[in-house]
Amino acid sequence: MSMREKLDLLERRRAESELGGGAQRLKAQHDKGKLSARERLDVLLDDGSFVELDRFVVHRSTDFGLDEQRIYGDGVVTGSGRIDGRLVYVFSQDFTVFGGSLSEAFAEKICKVMDLAVRNGAPVIGLNDSGGARIQEGVVSLGGYAEIFLRNTMASGVVPQISAILGPCAGGAVYSPAITDFVFMTRGTSYMFVTGPNVVKTVTHEDVTMEALGGADAHGATSGVSHFTCDSELACLQGVRDLLRFLPSNNVEPPPRGASTDPRDRREESLLDVVPDHPNKPYDMHEVLKRVVDDGEFLEVHKDFAGNILCGFAHLGGFSVGIVANQPAVLAGVLDINASTKAARFIRFCDAFNVPVVTFEDVPGFLPGTAQEHGGIIRHGAKLLYAYCEATVPKLTVITRKAYGGAYDVMSSKHIRGDFNVAWPTAEIAVMGPKGAVEILFKKEIAESDDPAKAMELRVAEYTEKFANPYVAASRGYIDDIIDPRDTRARLIDALESLQGKRDRNPPKKHGNIPL
Ligand code: HXC
Repeated sequence: MSMREKLDLLERRRAESELGGGAQRLKAQHDKGKLSARERLDVLLDDGSFVELDRFVVHRSTDFGLDEQRIYGDGVVTGSGRIDGRLVYVFSQDFTVFGGSLSEAFAEKICKVMDLAVRNGAPVIGLNDSGGARIQEGVVSLGGYAEIFLRNTMASGVVPQISAILGPCAGGAVYSPAITDFVFMTRGTSYMFVTGPNVVKTVTHEDVTMEALGGADAHGATSGVSHFTCDSELACLQGVRDLLRFLPSNNVEPPPRGASTDPRDRREESLLDVVPDHPNKPYDMHEVLKRVVDDGEFLEVHKDFAGNILCGFAHLGGFSVGIVANQPAVLAGVLDINASTKAARFIRFCDAFNVPVVTFEDVPGFLPGTAQEHGGIIRHGAKLLYAYCEATVPKLTVITRKAYGGAYDVMSSKHIRGDFNVAWPTAEIAVMGPKGAVEILFKKEIAESDDPAKAMELRVAEYTEKFANPYVAASRGYIDDIIDPRDTRARLIDALESLQGKRDRNPPKKHGNIPL
């Protein structure tokens, strides 16, 4: 065969490798409102940047007629590409080939890109659409999954790992995305569950649909397994691109700088009116965040889960930051189990990847009640405390109103290595709120008074004057300054700049024992 003939053959085989499971199955995929594995990569990556690996890999099985059905690529498209010019490694499961099920060869392809990502310090993005373990391959397929899980764990904290769930993801297969840093799901077309509706029906006699059991809203709002819920695949893939604007490529690089021209010393007059005069009146912490960060852009993570705490990314003076903020508009911003685990995991991500943590604090304490106590608020709340304590990235805190009790300590206080802690004049920093404190301290006096209401009022006023303000904390140096809210942006950017050279280390150890 001449060189030209050999090239023709190569071209034909390349073209064949792009067909996946064939036109009919591709049509079925489109009819479900889903893109093909390759179309998804086209949307995700910068134009023309995809470099495919292993396109001629086929499975090795011969059982159940598989020896007659060898499809180039074996159901997963892998390789590297660019997002905003930065290198990423990708795999995109092809449901048109054996339902995207995972064979030994399929797993090896994924492992190869994961190894390359770690070696070359670039994020891994997995587009998942799979019927799970390839049934015909049995334990060999299970072994392939385990190889991936191990790599997910080894890569954790080294390179960002992002999973988009764009179809079924069932059985033990869910544990690979679960180990990754961020999970995206699409409404109506993506599902995650350990056991599907049929098994649920057999075991618990519950009737439940795929969507209700493991759809995007179930995991975005109820279980917290998913971080981003999207209305379409296009929105989902664009969401992955957006998220990467805030993340470094690996744990030894700084995050990319934002390109905003928002003036660093922009004074925001309206911040004077956000916190209501009455201490128990709610307000929306989003209003504070969007007035402070560059161009008001806050990329919220876990938007629909544990709304009493807000987590997300923003730029401040071009610096990428992770924001954790109590949300007085939901449950008065109280810390509960879900809020604690949500924020703890977010902070640990930021710490692993050199993203400074900026905390906006207005917290009345931990949520009381048997549901919380018996659900383990002690060990879950401890995760948040632990995450803040161990973090060595720059930690900045703005107390806008309440900082009460244990929650004061937890929320990035000076005592746990907060670098820059400031309060607005509206801050109340104390063991508890005035009413609760007076009821304990002056219970007898008030009960025995001729006018208990008046006695209570006087004591509350006295306590408020004495403790429900930022001056006691400031007199001890527990906060660095009491600032004009209008200057919040300028002060934070200034502090971030000073903290660029921060050096801090935890004692050498194999690993800590976070209370899981
Ligand atoms: C081999 C599979 C397959 C699998 C689907 N297919 N799942 N082939 N192994 N696991 C094939 C089908 O035979 C079919 O082939 C094609 O993929 C499309 O499947 P359909 O059933 O026609 O599609 P749909 O109706 O959309 O249903 C999708 C599905 C269903 C919900 C994913 O296929 C399904 O329930 N599959 C089995 C899921 C499962 O139980 N997997 C094992 C989970 S346990 P043709 O040739 O007709 O196109 C697991 C353990 C992991 O994964 C352990 C890790 C620790």
